[in-house]
Amino acid sequence: MKSIEAAQNGDTFNADGTVMEAPRTVKKQIQFADQKQEFNKRPTKIGRRSLSRSISQSSTDSYSSAASYTDSSDDETSPRDKQQKNSKASSDFCIKNIKQADFGRREIEIAEQEMPALMALRKRAQGEKPLAGAKIVGCTHITAQTAVLMETLAALGAQCRWAACNIYSTQNEVAAALAENDDGGDLTHWIYKKYPNMFKKIKGIVEESVTGVHRLYQLSKAGKLCVPAMNVNDSVTKQKFDNLYCCRESILDGLKRTTDVMFGGKQVVVCGYGEVGKGCCAALKAMGSIVYVTEIDPICALQACMDGFRLVKLNEVIRQVDVVITCTGNKNVVTREHLDRMKNGCIVCNMGHSNTEIDVASLRTPELTWERVRSQVDHVIWPDGKRIVLLAEGRLLNLSCSTVPTFVLSITATTQALAMIELYNAPEGRYKQDVYLLPKKMDEYVASLHLPTFDAHLTELSDEQAKYLGLNKNGPFKPNYYRY
Ligand SMILES: NC(=O)c1ccc[n+]([C@@H]2O[C@H](COP(=O)([O-])OP(=O)(O)OC[C@H]3O[C@@H](n4cnc5c(N)ncnc54)[C@H](O)[C@@H]3O)[C@@H](O)[C@H]2O)c1
Repeated sequence: MKSIEAAQNGDTFNADGTVMEAPRTVKKQIQFADQKQEFNKRPTKIGRRSLSRSISQSSTDSYSSAASYTDSSDDETSPRDKQQKNSKASSDFCIKNIKQADFGRREIEIAEQEMPALMALRKRAQGEKPLAGAKIVGCTHITAQTAVLMETLAALGAQCRWAACNIYSTQNEVAAALAENDDGGDLTHWIYKKYPNMFKKIKGIVEESVTGVHRLYQLSKAGKLCVPAMNVNDSVTKQKFDNLYCCRESILDGLKRTTDVMFGGKQVVVCGYGEVGKGCCAALKAMGSIVYVTEIDPICALQACMDGFRLVKLNEVIRQVDVVITCTGNKNVVTREHLDRMKNGCIVCNMGHSNTEIDVASLRTPELTWERVRSQVDHVIWPDGKRIVLLAEGRLLNLSCSTVPTFVLSITATTQALAMIELYNAPEGRYKQDVYLLPKKMDEYVASLHLPTFDAHLTELSDEQAKYLGLNKNGPFKPNYYRY
């Protein structure tokens, strides 16, 4: 890998994605500095071997981070205005402070412990470089966990350049550690907007963010998608583990770090009983909270009932609840009218999409006073003295206020790495200019790489059983429509 550019001058980019192959042109805001020559050479196919083949299977049917542990208030100079060199005298990076590299390296090493599948991929790829010659540009959160992904891609033979998609989630010390390793970056979706000709040299796109995937489908529908793209957001391992288990683990962490409140016996309403809502409800129920659920979909609503939650309309409980959590991916689920009716001290937060689920803008009116009581916690005070506790200004609570379990990120990062290997090594014609889901077998492979961590012993089908079920003994074990 070459260098990293964390976009720390205030730019934020929506897409968490990666693009195979390197652009040749320099653009204004994305610096390909002095050492870009090597990166910009044409790739060779030498060195791609059996690892890719063993996991590749054609299929056409087929979000995360904790904020930096480093105080960012110490130096407000934009990284673009700083001249920095790493220990090898390279300046081919744009990061906050190269002196934090050792600290960042320790963070990466800690993350490696909880990302067994990526480490297994590195081990299995010894001598085999399924990404040899691949040039990968990525735009993701820059965290210890994504650093493990980048370094895995490099270990598999790729040359990588990377950019941060969000300054608030960037772990500056990790960016420094990557830059010290002379590793690094650029970002992706700008290519389409600013340099569409580069698509001639790009082999494929791997996209994990909801917004990015949505944009890819729009492009495809309009006939404007010029290269194959993998939608890893909708792979089973992403949906189940990132949405359900990640939120189950991180909801209480986010709530407790910000409020120090005891949740046993508290009345909580969770809006939306999809994967994220199910995770939040499970954690709060286990903590002894009284949990109500709102839903628009009768199937998810029935699931909530069968799981022992009271299904209500938000209006019915809004006056009595202690906590309101949105998990719908929708907008204006909690309106100003709801906020007006909440009781004093009600905690309001969002685990779903961006900051649209709670109508935070409606609280910016002259009669209401905002008081910042601690980082990411605002008291919004009504003229009669009632105050509500708004967390992270309605942005994602767990991404803003807690850490996200590395093991979960290991699953999604492995999915990304395998998607890149698949796209890069697929024979000509397997993938057209369209959006694809990951082959089922690859999803299963990602899961199987994580099983040894639990000392889990998987049962193997006998020949007779495989025949009876009409399955290949090595998978895939479920049809693509199976819902898990
Ligand atoms: N916080 C995180 O770490 C995290 C992780 C993954 C996904 N997400 C985001 O969380 C959101 C939900 O993801 P998901 O996987 O649970 O999606 P999902 O589609 O499985 O669930 C959303 C649920 O909300 C319901 N819903 C929609 N509008 C509603 C309304 N007005 N009132 C009540 N219920 C309503 C839907 O019927 C659906 O069942 C998405 O925006 C996703 O991007 C957050």
